[in-house]
Amino acid sequence: MFYQVYVRSFADGSGDGVGDLAGIRAHLPDLVALGVDALWITPFFPSPMADHGYDVADPRDVEPVFGDLAEFDALLADAHAQGLKVTIDLVPNHTSDQHRWFQEALASAPGSPARARYLFRDGRGPDGSEPPNNWPSVFGGPTWTRVPDGQWYLHIFAPEQPDLDFTNPEVVADLEETLHFWLRRGVDGFRIDVAHGMAKPAGLPDMVRVEDTGLFADDGPGDLRFDQDGVHAIHRRVRAVLDQYEDRMAVGEVWVFDDERLARYLRPDELHLAFNFKLLTADWDADVLRTAIEHSLLAVADVPAPACWVLSNHDRPRHVTRYGGGELGTRRARAAALLQLALPGVAYVYNGDELGMPDVDLPDEVLQDPIWERSVHTERGRDACRIPVPWSGDSPAYGFSTTPDTWLPMPDGWGPLTAQAQAADPDSMLSLYRTALALRRSSAAFGGEDVQWLPAAEGCLAFRRPGGLVCVVNLSSAPVPLPEGEVLLASEPVTDGALPVDAAVWLQG
Ligand code: GLC
Repeated sequence: MFYQVYVRSFADGSGDGVGDLAGIRAHLPDLVALGVDALWITPFFPSPMADHGYDVADPRDVEPVFGDLAEFDALLADAHAQGLKVTIDLVPNHTSDQHRWFQEALASAPGSPARARYLFRDGRGPDGSEPPNNWPSVFGGPTWTRVPDGQWYLHIFAPEQPDLDFTNPEVVADLEETLHFWLRRGVDGFRIDVAHGMAKPAGLPDMVRVEDTGLFADDGPGDLRFDQDGVHAIHRRVRAVLDQYEDRMAVGEVWVFDDERLARYLRPDELHLAFNFKLLTADWDADVLRTAIEHSLLAVADVPAPACWVLSNHDRPRHVTRYGGGELGTRRARAAALLQLALPGVAYVYNGDELGMPDVDLPDEVLQDPIWERSVHTERGRDACRIPVPWSGDSPAYGFSTTPDTWLPMPDGWGPLTAQAQAADPDSMLSLYRTALALRRSSAAFGGEDVQWLPAAEGCLAFRRPGGLVCVVNLSSAPVPLPEGEVLLASEPVTDGALPVDAAVWLQG
């Protein structure tokens, strides 16, 4: 059970309105009380913040806004003392344009070793004034930016995130050094950013144009930016480093939807885990969810990795909002939590999921995600799902910070959403998560990896785990009779022998 800490938005210890390592450290007891096993902390390395930390200027240090190395060591020691493992983000695909290497590349001539760490190419057309190929950037616009001497460099994301050339041994060696740096400090593992990126096809050929509908929407066969066979050699190098230490792991952000292609990342000498984004992208529909679950399980059927379930993260609309928002979205999110946590394998909870945080509509002038500018104000980007977490009190910043002036504004009226308010309410989302996680951790009903689908009413999902857990989710438009068995937990009251609409129940079958 992993908990994703989006560092800017989890808790602010310094009072500048931006979350930081001290804030995480102060809230470790809350995460223990929630019942998670491990944290994933998003990038806290020195960064000009063109993509809020995913543009890393030095992968072996701490951004002053977030703290320093001593603060990180203290956080790690405290977490370990409280029984929590700590994993951190690794961003191998690209650096910041402020990274020493990229600055050196800009100051060096075409063809120089400094340029060979990145993907600099001459342009096409008259005077090389057209980009070297037709790839679109994930954040909008072309994937190439021209430098004053006329060459172009490749950036799958923002221009401030130049892609590294992984055919250059120096680049791989530096990644290994970064791994050792954090492993020696004692981190338990890594979440690998864009783990399906890194390798590019030789010659960087044009691709058959895919409609550029936004973040990652077009990955798939034919998208030459991602899932190239050469990426597996890089994962083997990473794994070889991890295996030099005891009990360390890596989870990949692998936006690959084909089961067999995804499974390749999970071979015994590659990643330990790969996020399965099928739940994150599935609508609230029984058939869609069942298909998502079946494929996620199939993908890991022949590899040593367990399935890895994600409902929300910092890149996608939160599931309360995806499922309809308001009371409806919250009710469905409660049911979805029981569905996610009933499945075998690993689950990731994104900070605020446990409070049922929704997305927040922000006014144009506070939007910060590079997608907003890059898409020429056609895509609002991901700020809506990155609002700071409300901890306590009745007005912004709700205990997140001592200043109400938080990096993204927090709305009025969130008093009832705070962790403090919810901890006191046995019917709250937070209480549901705490109970569910305690059961998942302690009950033998959750034993065994198989999912046996049970006959279910139209629009419902029902399955049994070998340990005896039965999970039923009602996505139909009418209540359905409860199957036999002792009720362990329900997302809505089930006193009259029926499972209400948009509700889920755990039974001891
Ligand atoms: C990953 C991160 C996302 C970031 C991108 C570029 O998808 O999750 O937040 O913008 O990589 O590093």
